[in-house]
Amino acid sequence: MIISKQTDARMGSVVEGFDIASATAADVARIKELVYTDKIVILRKQELSTGAFVELGKLFGEPAPYYEPMYHHPENDLVFVSSNVPEDGKQVGVPKTGKFWHADYQFMEKPFGFTLIHPQVVPTGDRGTFFIDLGKAYEALPQELKDAAAQARAVHSPRRFFKIRPEDVYRPVGELLAEIETKTPAVVHNAVTRHPHTGESILYISEGFTVGLTDEAGNDLGADLLQNLLEATGQYDRTFEHPQIHLQRFDAGDLLIWDNRSLVHRALHTTTPEPAVSYRVTVYDEYPFDAAV
Ligand SMILES: [Fe+2]
Repeated sequence: MIISKQTDARMGSVVEGFDIASATAADVARIKELVYTDKIVILRKQELSTGAFVELGKLFGEPAPYYEPMYHHPENDLVFVSSNVPEDGKQVGVPKTGKFWHADYQFMEKPFGFTLIHPQVVPTGDRGTFFIDLGKAYEALPQELKDAAAQARAVHSPRRFFKIRPEDVYRPVGELLAEIETKTPAVVHNAVTRHPHTGESILYISEGFTVGLTDEAGNDLGADLLQNLLEATGQYDRTFEHPQIHLQRFDAGDLLIWDNRSLVHRALHTTTPEPAVSYRVTVYDEYPFDAAV
């Protein structure tokens, strides 16, 4: 295994020569540590069946199926499919997923520890995923905002970006909204979490899923603080040139693993509709989500 830092990038390391068939426990531990400290690890030249991809995920934690079945791979419900390429005339997975800043399962009691992405069909044009390290972004905040965030609790819900399913056509919107609130009621995490492995403080908010900030007693702190924090961390920058934003490019054969506690991400979709297919496995590691709780 050869490990190198990504050059000219805010984060990320590249691993060459990782082979699931011959990887030792020490290799896996080394990569896992690298994900915690360097936030993104790219394993090069991976050729994996869906089953082998899930097995690879198991080396890093316990995989969990996504709660909405329409995203599942038809042969393996632990694989989440983002695809705009129909197979035999049928939509597989969901097209254009995650085009907004978020962390995976941020709106659940226990968000995932790691996300693994294995692109299958890579567009030739603009491609990649934007990332912001919310540990670094928290550190960089002006003291006043840092103090305000440290006192706050953040409320998260999938309601703004819930994608309607084929069976929702002709359903009243109110009924669908009620279903979202019943199935995935808003959850509350500390606005500043503590990473259970690195001990870092992380400003755990996103443009997509954070719907409000409250004080400890649950009183709404108003929209301004949330907006100022999202703005300061780069989540409102549509030029994507904010100093906290990192664009991770990838090629066919790459497999990305990232620290889902520290990073928010946002898909970059091509403006011209080129074929794109990506498989995802998400896992829980052995730690609680937030060491401060
Ligand atoms: Fe995502």
